[in-house]
Amino acid sequence: MTALDLSSPVAVVGTGTMGQGIAQVALVAGHPVRLYDAVPGRAREAAAAIGARLDRLVAKDRLSPAERDAARARLQPVDSLAALADSALVVEAVLEQLDVKQELLRELEDIVGDACLLATNTSSLSVTAIGGALRVPGRFVGLHFFNPAPLMPLVEVVSGFATDVTSATRAYETARAWGKTPVACADTPGFIVNRIARPFYAEAFAVYEAQAADPATIDAVLRESGGFRMGAFELTDLIGQDVNEAVTHSVWRSFFQDVRFTPSLAQRRLVESGRLGRKTGRGWYDYTEGAERPEPHTADAAEPPAHVVAEGDLGPAGELLPMIREAGITVREKDEDNGTRLVLPSGGHLVPADGRTSAEFRDVVHFDLALDYRRATRIALSASQDTSPQVLAEATGLFQALGKKVSVIGDVPGMIVARTVARIVDLAYDAVAKGVATEEDVDTAMRLGVNYPLGPFEWSRRLGRTWAYSLLDDLHLREPSGRCAPSLALYRHAYATDKRETAS
Ligand SMILES: NC(=O)c1ccc[n+]([C@@H]2O[C@H](COP(=O)([O-])OP(=O)(O)OC[C@H]3O[C@@H](n4cnc5c(N)ncnc54)[C@H](O)[C@@H]3O)[C@@H](O)[C@H]2O)c1
Repeated sequence: MTALDLSSPVAVVGTGTMGQGIAQVALVAGHPVRLYDAVPGRAREAAAAIGARLDRLVAKDRLSPAERDAARARLQPVDSLAALADSALVVEAVLEQLDVKQELLRELEDIVGDACLLATNTSSLSVTAIGGALRVPGRFVGLHFFNPAPLMPLVEVVSGFATDVTSATRAYETARAWGKTPVACADTPGFIVNRIARPFYAEAFAVYEAQAADPATIDAVLRESGGFRMGAFELTDLIGQDVNEAVTHSVWRSFFQDVRFTPSLAQRRLVESGRLGRKTGRGWYDYTEGAERPEPHTADAAEPPAHVVAEGDLGPAGELLPMIREAGITVREKDEDNGTRLVLPSGGHLVPADGRTSAEFRDVVHFDLALDYRRATRIALSASQDTSPQVLAEATGLFQALGKKVSVIGDVPGMIVARTVARIVDLAYDAVAKGVATEEDVDTAMRLGVNYPLGPFEWSRRLGRTWAYSLLDDLHLREPSGRCAPSLALYRHAYATDKRETAS
C-alpha cells in the first residue's frame, strides 16, 4: 500500500489553527488542496494566511518563488462540502465535539467516493466513536498532527476499532510522503503522547501539593537535572492551564477514572481562579509587566567532604564516582553490598532517589536522578527534618564541588526527576503491553511530540531493568492511593524473566 498520489486532491474541513497547518503541509508536499469551513469567508481567510506563510518560507529560502506560486495555484477555498466530491483524502479539523464531527462525516460520506480516505485530527475523542457514525467506517482513521503542524514532525496515525489495515497504512505512508514522522497507534485515550506524558505534569504538581518545593525549583530541577526542555509549570503556562487540564480530565474520564491519571487539585484551583497561564498574564507564574520571575531554591556554599565511601551498585549514579575523584575528593569503593549509598565523613548517607523517604532512616540525604550527571547543572537533595545539618551540609558541599547548584526540597519519595521518569517508563510499558504502539514508536512519539531528551524505553534501558519498578513499588507503599502503583507490564519486564530462570 502506497501513499496517495500527489495529483490527488486533499480536502481540509475546519480551517482554524490545525486545519491551516495541515493544509499547508499537504500543499507544500505537492497536492491540490481544498479548504472548507462552516463559517462563511473563513476558508478564504485561511487560504490568504497560508499564502502569507508560504511568502515567509520564500523569504527564508525554504521555498522557491516558483514553488510558492505553484502551491498557491493548487490551493482552493470552497463554499460548500459538495465541492469536495473528488477528494482522495478529507482531513477534518473542526470543533472538538463528538456530535459535530459525526454529523460532518456523515454528510461528507454522501458526497465523496467510496475510495476516499476520511481522517480526523481529534486530539482527545475516540476515533472509533467518531467513525461509528459512518456507513463505511473502515476508511476512517485518526491523523493526529501536533501544533504547529508545519513544524512538528510527529503524526500519530490512529486506527479505530473498525479502521481497515489498508486505510491506516495508506494514511501512514501519506504522512511520511509529506515529510512527517508517523507512528502507528491504537485508539486508546490520549493515543501515545497525551497518555504517556500525563505524569510529567502530575508528578510535578504532586511534589508541589506535598509542599516539598515551589514551581520555580521543580521546573529548574526538571530542566537542569532531568534534561527536559521546560519544566511542568512553565510548560503548562505556555499550553494554557485550561487546555492542559482538559486533556488530563479527558484521559482520566476515558479510562473510567483510573486513579493513575488523577487530575491535580492545585491545577483545578488555578483554572478556577482564571489564572490560565501566559494568555491571561498569570498562571503558576506572573507574566504581567514588571513581574519578577521567582528564583529556584539554591543552597548556600558548603564545605565539601574530604572523602566518601561508595557502597553497593550506584546504578545510574555510578558515573558520579570519577567526577568526585576529579574534584579532589577521595573515594573508597567497598564491594560488600550494604545497600546503595555514599557514606559521608560524618557517618551520614547519600542515597540515589528511590521510592523511600529520608525520614525512614537515620541521617540519610537522597539525591535526585539526573539525565546525565556530568552535564547536569543542578541537583536536588532531600532530607528529613531529623537529618543532621552537618550531613546535609556535606552532601551539599559534595555536589557543589562537582560544579552543581543544589536545590534542597522536602522529603518526598522519588523526589522530582526520578518519580517523573519512573512513572513515564511505567505508562510506556503498560501502553505497549496493551497493544497501543511498539516500543520504537513510543520512543519516537515522546521525543518528537513532547521533546523528551530520551524515549521512555531508551531511558529505562539506561537506568537498568528493575529501576523503575522498584522505585514505584516503594513509592506505592508510601502513597497507597494506587496513583503511582507500577503496572503488571513493568513488573513482568523487571522480574518475570529472572523468576522463570530460577524456576527452570
Ligand atoms: N490546537 C491544537 O493544539 C490541536 C492539536 C492537535 C489536534 N487538535 C484538534 O484539531 C481540531 C481543531 O482544532 P483547532 O485548534 O484548529 O480549532 P480552531 O477553533 O482553531 O478551528 C476550528 C475551525 O473549525 C470550524 N468549524 C467548526 N465546526 C465546523 C463544521 N461543522 N464544519 C466545518 N467547519 C467547522 C470553525 O469555524 C473553526 O474555523 C480539534 O479536533 C482539536 O482537538 C488541536
